[in-house]
Amino acid sequence: MRIHVVDHPLVAHKLTTLRDKRTDSPTFRRLADELVTLLAYEATRDVRTEQVDIETPVTPTTGVKLSHPRPLVVPILRAGLGMLDGMVRLLPTAEVGFLGMIRNEETLKAETYATRMPEDLSGRQVYVLDPMLATGGTLVAAIRELIERGADDVTAVVLLAAPEGVEVMERELAGTPVTVVTASVDERLNENGYIVPGLGDAGDRMYGTV
Ligand code: URA
Repeated sequence: MRIHVVDHPLVAHKLTTLRDKRTDSPTFRRLADELVTLLAYEATRDVRTEQVDIETPVTPTTGVKLSHPRPLVVPILRAGLGMLDGMVRLLPTAEVGFLGMIRNEETLKAETYATRMPEDLSGRQVYVLDPMLATGGTLVAAIRELIERGADDVTAVVLLAAPEGVEVMERELAGTPVTVVTASVDERLNENGYIVPGLGDAGDRMYGTV
């Protein structure tokens, strides 16, 4: 597993406003959307392309287009949904799948409660979206499911990560073709599983739940 922390002043600026508890839900949603687009730019650095012939008004030439099979974008419900538009804006040919994951409060393990994506992901590049990499349980379970279906290249786009979650991903997904792209690896997780300094509950802040 590789981790890529995007170091850019626009990313840092938007992230600071997202962290600020005074930022209201509409502003939070807009900034999260913009931040995802900036992260998507980095996350798609290795998206597969193919050469095509075109004609400009002046002359025939060659260029590149996103190739087939189409990349698959998979937001993890619920908060990952708030990242979908920002991602597909840069990947117009992408197909979209959905994964609903919830933590079983008895086993403390992430369980899948809804899946909507192709059975066979052989040869597909997959971009999985979840705003917060906290304990890593949800993302590890989601990525295992994608790899079991044959995905051969998985990039997780997360707004924020905790070092504890990164460590879990590195241990559990060692040797797999997985990259994590994030705006920041923060200090730590607190006793309630929140990222510190973090930005609070991403889903609640996005959807205005109190
Ligand atoms: N999920 C969140 O929404 N926020 C955190 O800080 C950790 C997990």
